[in-house]
Amino acid sequence: MQFLKLVVLLVALVTVTVARSSLMNRMDVAPRGCKWQRVLDETGEDEAPATVTTVLSCKLKTIGGTDTLMRNLSSYQIERINSLRLECSDILFFESSLEANQHSGAFLGSLRRLRDLKIEYCKIKYVPSMVLATLRDLRSLSLRTHNTDWSAMNLEFHPESFRGLTELKRLDLADNNIWSLPTDVFCPLFSLRHLNLTRNRLTDVSQLGFSDWGNGPTAPGKACNTGLEVLDLSHNDLLALPDNGLSSLRSLSVLMLQDNLLTALADRSFVGLGSLKVLNMSSNKLVALPPETFQSTRELRQIYLQNNSLSVLAPGMLEGLDRLEILDLSYNELTSEWVKRNTFAGMKRLVVLEIAHNALTKIDRHVFRELYSLQILNLEANQIESIADNAFSDLKNLVALTLSHNRLKRIEQHHFSELYVLNQLYIESNMIESMHGRALENLTNLNDLNLNDNRLTEIPEGLGKLRFLKSLDLGKNRISAVSNASFEGLEQLLGLRLVENRITNISRDAFV
Ligand SMILES: *[C@@H]1O[C@H](CO)[C@@H](O)[C@H](O)[C@H]1NC(C)=O
Ligand SMILES: *[C@@H]1O[C@H](CO)[C@@H](O)[C@H](O)[C@H]1NC(C)=O
Ligand SMILES: *[C@@H]1O[C@H](CO)[C@@H](O)[C@H](O)[C@H]1NC(C)=O
Ligand SMILES: *[C@@H]1O[C@H](CO)[C@@H](O)[C@H](O)[C@H]1NC(C)=O
Ligand SMILES: *[C@@H]1O[C@H](CO)[C@@H](O)[C@H](O)[C@H]1NC(C)=O
Ligand SMILES: *[C@@H]1O[C@H](CO)[C@@H](O)[C@H](O)[C@H]1NC(C)=O
Ligand SMILES: *[C@@H]1O[C@H](CO)[C@@H](O)[C@H](O)[C@H]1NC(C)=O
Repeated sequence: MQFLKLVVLLVALVTVTVARSSLMNRMDVAPRGCKWQRVLDETGEDEAPATVTTVLSCKLKTIGGTDTLMRNLSSYQIERINSLRLECSDILFFESSLEANQHSGAFLGSLRRLRDLKIEYCKIKYVPSMVLATLRDLRSLSLRTHNTDWSAMNLEFHPESFRGLTELKRLDLADNNIWSLPTDVFCPLFSLRHLNLTRNRLTDVSQLGFSDWGNGPTAPGKACNTGLEVLDLSHNDLLALPDNGLSSLRSLSVLMLQDNLLTALADRSFVGLGSLKVLNMSSNKLVALPPETFQSTRELRQIYLQNNSLSVLAPGMLEGLDRLEILDLSYNELTSEWVKRNTFAGMKRLVVLEIAHNALTKIDRHVFRELYSLQILNLEANQIESIADNAFSDLKNLVALTLSHNRLKRIEQHHFSELYVLNQLYIESNMIESMHGRALENLTNLNDLNLNDNRLTEIPEGLGKLRFLKSLDLGKNRISAVSNASFEGLEQLLGLRLVENRITNISRDAFV
């Protein structure tokens, strides 16, 4: 595949070079503030062969300048533009307008081959009806006013703003200070796959027109944008998700809702999202999720819920998510009352589980049962005082375990029973006074062991079994003696930290 790409690239380069003398001679005189580029476009969907795209990039004062600029191009040149990038001056405030009846707008009609239009930093207030409708071939449109930099200005749409763009696949409307949208404004975009609305001021999901619920199953509403795959609504002001609000998005695979003001989800918020794989709801104000939240999203691979105020996890809420690979619950207020036996039941493909910065006090024997694929488990900064024997023993693939910043006093014999492939074990900043002499015996692949900031009075026994140990941190403990047997067998050790202890007695051969 790589090889094929290389060949295509070389052929393309040769073609460009040969074509240069004929085509580029006529093309290379760019209007002031503009430049021509010929780029190899490999992003073509559906494994389309790579094509060479002709790009014209211009810096202007306002978008109205485009017409003047186009007048300096021959019709031969204009016809060949596949991609147009217009960047307005952001130094001073010059308002731009897309109204076709003023001096601007006419230029768009002549760009028949345009597939990609990007307008950046132009201070636009309004997208008129069908303003881009002549661009029948347009696949990608990015309109980013950065209006937020001029707080008084927001971007508004006509209900027919996007009518006619039947081939459009990507629409990027980030950073526009959009407060509201006419219902169904995206509905005419039959081919839309990717919609980015990040960093606007949207408060209401129902305005997007992505619900086909209507008056229930017997009288469904309009089903728009059923092919949408990626929807980014992050960094808006969404307060709640209504029932069935996204129900027409049957192909949606990625939903970004992070950094909003969501306090609650309706029971049926995600109904219809049968293809959803990635869901990011981090940095909201969620205190709980309805038990049915994930009932119709069984394809989920990644769920991000970190940095909310979750104090409850309804029993069974995560049940049936047997394809989940990443679950991030860190920075919430979960207690052991809710994270216990069966909370993660059936997640046989889970690889990463983050529960750091919560309020767990104990780990019982069955919390992590059957998580055979788990590789990373982070329990940092909870209030864990006790861990049941063999609590981790189903985690045959665990590579990294973090228990730092908890309240553990002792490491018992069977705490880390069968973690044969464990690579990193971090138990920093607990209150550990003692470690059972055999506690580490099965951690034969351990590379890093961090016991910094505990209350150990002796160097733990059994370190010698850790044949692959490369770094060992025993700093800030109460260790008083280092004997010649302390580090025996640690032949791969590269880093050893012992600062801030009470060492008075180091036997002569300790570090030989
Ligand atoms: C367009 O061409 C005219 C005359 O050739 C020239 O004076 C003007 O600066 C050009 N404008 C741009 C934007 O290149
Ligand atoms: C949306 O645009 C923002 C800003 O450029 C970008 O960081 C983000 O990755 C985009 N979202 C998606 C899903 O591509
Ligand atoms: C989810 O959102 C958070 C911001 O709250 C961000 O840091 C993280 O990278 C996002 N993750 C993914 C996979 O989008
Ligand atoms: C957590 O969320 C709050 C808003 O709820 C946000 O201000 C803060 O930056 C977020 N923190 C991180 C680390 O994402
Ligand atoms: C180490 O593994 C063996 C074999 O599974 C087991 O019998 C033994 O109890 C384990 N050691 C500890 C300290 O749990
Ligand atoms: C440690 O050193 C002392 C004297 O230096 C010696 O008697 C003892 O056998 C050594 N122990 C080990 C385990 O090497
Ligand atoms: C140092 O170790 C030796 C031999 O183990 C012991 O006799 C001696 O009392 C120790 N000194 C102190 C100050 O602990």
